[in-house]
Amino acid sequence: MSPVKVLGSIFWVGAIDWNIRHFHGFTYSTHHGTTYNAYLIVDEQTALVDAVYGPFAGEMMERIREIIDPSKIDYVVANHVETDHSGAISEILKLAPQAKLVGTARCKEGLQKHYFGNWDFQVVKTGDEISLGERSLRFVEAPMLHWPDTMFTYIEKDALLLPSDAFGQHLATAKRFDDEVDEKTLMEEATKYYANILWPFSRLIIKKIDEIQKLGLKISMIAPSHGIIWRSNPTKIVEAYLRWAKGEAGRKVLVVYDTMWSSTEKMAKAIVESISSEGVEAMLFRLPFSDRGDIIGELLEAKGILVGSSTINNGVLPTVAPFLEEMQGLRPRNKIAAAFGSYGWGGGAVKTIEESLEKAGMDIVAPALTVKWVPDKNEIQKCYEFGKEFAKKVIAETE
Ligand code: FEO
Repeated sequence: MSPVKVLGSIFWVGAIDWNIRHFHGFTYSTHHGTTYNAYLIVDEQTALVDAVYGPFAGEMMERIREIIDPSKIDYVVANHVETDHSGAISEILKLAPQAKLVGTARCKEGLQKHYFGNWDFQVVKTGDEISLGERSLRFVEAPMLHWPDTMFTYIEKDALLLPSDAFGQHLATAKRFDDEVDEKTLMEEATKYYANILWPFSRLIIKKIDEIQKLGLKISMIAPSHGIIWRSNPTKIVEAYLRWAKGEAGRKVLVVYDTMWSSTEKMAKAIVESISSEGVEAMLFRLPFSDRGDIIGELLEAKGILVGSSTINNGVLPTVAPFLEEMQGLRPRNKIAAAFGSYGWGGGAVKTIEESLEKAGMDIVAPALTVKWVPDKNEIQKCYEFGKEFAKKVIAETE
């Protein structure tokens, strides 16, 4: 349970949640667990930036105790209200009742409505600073990245940015830094994190990165509130965020479907094969066997998506509906899309799919492909042509 020195007298004192497999209720699968990162800055005065999820308060306290007596903490900075980072604040303030709680006005309101504590709260806004002695904490409000209360804390002396959830990943590991973990796993988790948590706020991300650059804040290290710390090349994740936020994508298509008696599945497989034959990467996912959060992660860097469903009760299968619902909430940018599916008599699934994809902001580039009952040889050929035409559009859009 040792703390980890980040640099100078700044320590990681967070907690590792090795076993969590579902986050935000059951909306986000965390195959690799997660961490709740808290950072202790020891100076003439001591600050704790972010805390951990309530059940992990003891683990954090043990780490803090290895460095200082927790009662000596002067400031508890809450970059974000959400309970995975604020759950342990009550425990800290019981031990350090003189400590000042620091956050945005919305953070104050949010913490009050979560914990009902009568705490000494200092509201801060962009540009405000708190001097700890040798080091100062500077604050940058970051509303909707990803909650209204969110702010970043910056330590100029070390060019260290503590950006709350931004740039995070759900990755439990005994290592704390990017150069200590497998790069592929790290980027996969960072990608999935952006897609599932931050995607709807892409325009704000572009603006925030621009604002930070204009403020002239030099950044040598980024220490988010989940996962590893970006110390070897923080530019890499910032550039990835800009790429994702702008909707830049590669020659990749996802085919996401579910099927009742295999007709839609036959269509899906023919479509995937034909897309692939055009030199475009194609990935096939059957709902609900494939994890929704993983599919959304894959979609981030894909140019196109084809969604298929058998028709039931004039609409999509109940296994497809939650995926379409989530697409509408995430509002992916710059994606092309189309629908396909089979039906027995009235049809209706493809109409529901098209409406949902349009609501999600996608560009429907081909009329839906439908097959009555079981696809025959000619209809399978049509699936090949459908996939080929879609692949050509992806190539044209990514040239
Ligand atoms: Fe990791 Fe928005 O809390």
